[in-house]
Amino acid sequence: MDALTDLKARYLTGIAAAGDEAALEELRLAALGKKGEVSLKMRELGQMSPDERQTAGPALNALKDELDAALRAKRVALADAALDERLKAEWLDVTLPGRPRPRGTIHPVSQVMEELTAIFADMGFAVAEGPQIETDWYNFDALNIPPEHPARQEHDTFFMARAADDPRPPHVLRTHTSPVQIRAMTAQGAPIRVIAPGRVYRMDMDQTHSPMFHQVEGLAIDRDLSMANLKWVLEEFCRAFFEVPHVDLRFRASHFPFTEPSAEVDIRCSWAGGQLKIGEGDSWMEILGSGMVHPKVLKAAGVDPDQWQGFAFGMGIDRIAMLKYGIPDLRAFFESDLRWLRHYGFAALDLPTLQGGLSR
Ligand code: DAH
Repeated sequence: MDALTDLKARYLTGIAAAGDEAALEELRLAALGKKGEVSLKMRELGQMSPDERQTAGPALNALKDELDAALRAKRVALADAALDERLKAEWLDVTLPGRPRPRGTIHPVSQVMEELTAIFADMGFAVAEGPQIETDWYNFDALNIPPEHPARQEHDTFFMARAADDPRPPHVLRTHTSPVQIRAMTAQGAPIRVIAPGRVYRMDMDQTHSPMFHQVEGLAIDRDLSMANLKWVLEEFCRAFFEVPHVDLRFRASHFPFTEPSAEVDIRCSWAGGQLKIGEGDSWMEILGSGMVHPKVLKAAGVDPDQWQGFAFGMGIDRIAMLKYGIPDLRAFFESDLRWLRHYGFAALDLPTLQGGLSR
């Protein structure tokens, strides 16, 4: 009987210490499996005298039941512990505060591009695009600026470096969005109504100039468009963009090689109390250049000037963004200072629409 007591103690200790299901199974086989210690002892019962068997039999059976019960209990305990572990790991504190909203904002230049796209789309203008690295033909020649023309110097052009014997046409960083006029008309012909917002480049840098800045070009060609249509479109645009009930525009005769006649356009404003107000007051501020598209420009883009005519305009996007949102220094636009972006930026999901409001 000592042997049995010893065996029982050994297995119960083993079962209590078993760390997982596999260890338990190993113990079960060692004790109760076909060749397990308890099973072998059961087999010995056959060779015992009836008297011996009378005590040894029930004792072995009791031992078997006890080990069996201990194994079962331990199995349940292990499963419970595993579940506890999992619950602890997957625990979620529903009282934690929500995550902060993303900090990013829409840059004022992007915002203004969206705003003016919404306004001009409402007047039937599609958005056209062109490359920022442009041939000098699109940037100058096709716009009636021949190689010897003084306007080429005025544009402070960045030229792409080229070997003297490079056969490709000379390329420049486009100095204005006007070349998109040529590309749009060549691709689409007339009639056409497009705007082309985008980046342009000039070698210039101070508080009001940056070597990279943004313009939006406008172009409308049809059978009988005139300066009157140009004036109406620009007034509509300014009223909607500056979100005021009334604007006064002043057309000053000017000169651009690609328009004839040409006009620079000023908007009435006031600087009372150092605060700029659009639409009232006695001051004027220049906001864009415009005119009737020159016949040579139409011809360069494959549009017959005897059949078609229309107007074009070009406007600085950064400048009108500064005016509308009271941003004093152009250079800050391109410094990527997060504090500035948080102050002047716009909520990412507030898309400007005419019916919903452009800026909120
Ligand atoms: N391209 C001109 C510039 O960058 C702006 C301009 C003036 C565009 C008159 C036009 C226009 O389309 O008609 O200064």
